[in-house]
Amino acid sequence: MCGIVGVVGSRNATDILIQGLQKLEYRGYDSAGIFVTDKNKNSVLVKAVGRISALQEKIDIEVNGTSGIGHTRWATHGKPSKINAHPHVSANSRFVLVHNGVIENFKELKERYLTDDKLVSKTDTEIAVHLIGKLIEEGNLSVVEGFRKALKLLEGSFAFALMDRKDSEIIYVAKNKSPLLIGLGNGYNMICSDAMAMIRETNRFLELYDEEMVIVKRDSVKIMDANGTVVKRKPYIAKLDLSDIGKGAYPYYMLKEIDEQPAVMRKIMQKYIANTNPHQMKVEQEILEAVVKADRIYVIAAGTSSHAGWAAKAFFEQLTKTPVEICLASEFGYNTPLLSKKPLFIYISQSGETADSRQVLVKMKKLGYKALTITNVPGSTLSREADYTLLLYAGSEIAVASTKAYTAQIAVMAVLAKAVGEYIGNSVARSFNLLQELSLVASAIEALLTEKKQIEQKVYKHLQNTRNAFYIGRGADYYASMEAALKLKEISYIQCEGFAAGELKHGTIALIEERTPVQALISNKEIASHTRGNVMEVVSRGAKVLTIVSQDCAQKEDDIVVQIVHPFLTCITMVVPTQLVAYYATLQRKLDVDKPRNLAKSVTVE
Ligand code: AGP
Repeated sequence: MCGIVGVVGSRNATDILIQGLQKLEYRGYDSAGIFVTDKNKNSVLVKAVGRISALQEKIDIEVNGTSGIGHTRWATHGKPSKINAHPHVSANSRFVLVHNGVIENFKELKERYLTDDKLVSKTDTEIAVHLIGKLIEEGNLSVVEGFRKALKLLEGSFAFALMDRKDSEIIYVAKNKSPLLIGLGNGYNMICSDAMAMIRETNRFLELYDEEMVIVKRDSVKIMDANGTVVKRKPYIAKLDLSDIGKGAYPYYMLKEIDEQPAVMRKIMQKYIANTNPHQMKVEQEILEAVVKADRIYVIAAGTSSHAGWAAKAFFEQLTKTPVEICLASEFGYNTPLLSKKPLFIYISQSGETADSRQVLVKMKKLGYKALTITNVPGSTLSREADYTLLLYAGSEIAVASTKAYTAQIAVMAVLAKAVGEYIGNSVARSFNLLQELSLVASAIEALLTEKKQIEQKVYKHLQNTRNAFYIGRGADYYASMEAALKLKEISYIQCEGFAAGELKHGTIALIEERTPVQALISNKEIASHTRGNVMEVVSRGAKVLTIVSQDCAQKEDDIVVQIVHPFLTCITMVVPTQLVAYYATLQRKLDVDKPRNLAKSVTVE
């Protein structure tokens, strides 16, 4: 949440900042701002409410400094407004700060140190920059000394980039919990929340760790730990392809990402299944042993990633013979259940940056429990800090609504479960031909994608003018319903619940009235008649129903029919039509599919 960029020593500072912010817009898009300065200390600070394009419109061609910092915001403290947008400045405007994270003790700091200061915004960031300025000027300290002193007083999460108008050729950086990278250029250096923001300028990056402070100049980067000791660190090469992050001819990233799913399934097969033996998974022995040693797996995740955990639970238990608990990251750290004797933690996260998941990882690592991260982003915080990583190989996912990462997460969980099952000699795993089953999944998705036009028409009719809806299903279809409902509500703003079909009659059916839209998922022949019964119950109370069914359960009047795949993997194929339902319902409402209100792609605050 929130994106930070910065550059020192380039003739193109404004352009680098704006291009970088555009790439980071997925991290927050309610307001943005830049501060640009040149060698002669001429500077300009511009802010705008809304997208980066709104900021761009306000930037004069005269703004052509050599250094600067920029920020795209996802509001935490204070509503989205020009005043609350970053950068913020110290009392006499000497210091300029951008911030990603949350300062938890901002009220105490204000009351203790800043009673006489005039604060114009409602943000915790303005308090931080006032505090930094005050400590430096009243204590007659160097910027590094004063900044460090302030950092010791701050509680919470932050990635900070600080500039001093008296020396426009330095960016001071500090990091705790929120991500930040240094990009190494030729004759200039940069900072960014995500390598993607600076990949046009460089592919050489330095990772930063919590409690480090960095002095970034045009020709040097000095990293110091919390005690001020200089840390030597080698840069790494980010393997990102700019073409990977374009949307080509697609109107929205979400549609592109939905379409990419068959290719992602095939990529996962290619990366994880041996050419010579379809039963041999390419998963490190160490990971297999960690799973085998565990008496219980705790899957920690948020949102769609937690739904992928639910979808994988049944097959993971059957193939590995190990019980699996799915836990919401935002709850687990503060409401930790009684743990088993030998737990293993699996963190599922598309971005690898989710703060809720990370706080659990940090706490559980302190207790000595091993961590495996399943993520789409190599080098992300959750990947770096875990003992093991399995990558999704889904390619960059830009739309806020997660689609291809969800289906990839289930597929990679299946790879791991199959690998462990083979390792322990489980006969169910032996007879589960994952190569063949994932190929069928890829083909089933392809078949669905050819029916987009028909699905679009059905969605327009079914969800037109509604403010609420339900998805219902049993077993795997219940988990798919939860994901389907999240997708629909987060982008179309239709209030939607994913419900266990049999549970509806225990209270929630009271909400069904004339023309309430209900989408029923039916993929399991054994229990299809029960779900059909639940469909009849809602129809009798006036609901209009759209059915999404597997071919072997299909009846003449069903709306969307999905090819048969292995029962372990129906949570992948059954969700694809619901991704399209969400997409078309949002188009019908003329909303921004990729950037829904109030949300951000990477949720880096707890
Ligand atoms: C999904 O469409 C959402 N944008 C959201 O629920 C997301 O899955 C969640 O915030 C977790 O993110 P992560 O996978 O990057 O950890």
